[in-house]
Amino acid sequence: MEKLGDKLGMTRNITKEKLLHKGAEASLFYGHWFGKEVIFKHRIIKDYRIEQLDRKIRTVRTLNEARALIKVKEYRINTPQVYEIDTESSTIIMKYISGSKLKNLIKTLNISKKKEIFTNLGRIIAILHINGHIHGDITTSNIILTSSEDIFLIDFGLHDYSDSIEDKSVDIHLLKRVLISSHGDDFKLCFNAFLEGYKSEYRERGNNAYNDIIKNISIIETRGRYVKKENRL
Ligand SMILES: Nc1ncnc2c1ncn2[C@@H]1O[C@H](COP(=O)(O)OP(=O)(O)O)[C@@H](O)[C@H]1O
Ligand SMILES: [Mg+2]
Repeated sequence: MEKLGDKLGMTRNITKEKLLHKGAEASLFYGHWFGKEVIFKHRIIKDYRIEQLDRKIRTVRTLNEARALIKVKEYRINTPQVYEIDTESSTIIMKYISGSKLKNLIKTLNISKKKEIFTNLGRIIAILHINGHIHGDITTSNIILTSSEDIFLIDFGLHDYSDSIEDKSVDIHLLKRVLISSHGDDFKLCFNAFLEGYKSEYRERGNNAYNDIIKNISIIETRGRYVKKENRL
């Protein structure tokens, strides 16, 4: 039987055309899959790991990410449709989402648009959390906005299942840090809008766990400062 790994780039129906991004874990290619515009997310071999272990890690992570991308669609969260999973070459073939990364878009948005987008993002992350999903890497590079202003979440490589307050706060705390470090001027406005959306979604479902989750973000920050002080000694 022909394996997808061998097929990639070898048949006219599946073509990898352009390297878009090379991350620590994966290379992302743009291409076509039976006439559709797609992204190939290919987890790369790590030579420093024992071969068998490396293969296992890549397989597990590929499957986890693909499952999460598919699973969260149940809650009407926009994620790229998964077309094919190939554990042999640890590749996910998914729909190419045409749009802009939130990272590059923020500076072009007016205040009310920023508020609107971040409020919606807060609602989306609340839906994930209420259903026991942790995205694991909520950065402005992992959010794509389409021309019709739909918000797409991508990069579920660090996705996990959890119902703990701590894990949910850590998820949000990462976004907070990214906003401070990469979008400092917009941090307050965007993060407050995010929290408003997050709280609203919880409240509307009669769930007040958001109080503890948001409170815990400050506790995490206190711990961070403590660690930094320790390092200085
Ligand atoms: N489905 C997709 N549609 C369009 N662009 C994508 C898609 N998936 C990934 N990308 C682009 O590739 C980049 C890296 O993908 P990502 O899954 O975040 O990999 P990494 O784990 O290396 O961060 C994203 O920031 C985005 O620009
Ligand atoms: Mg990413």
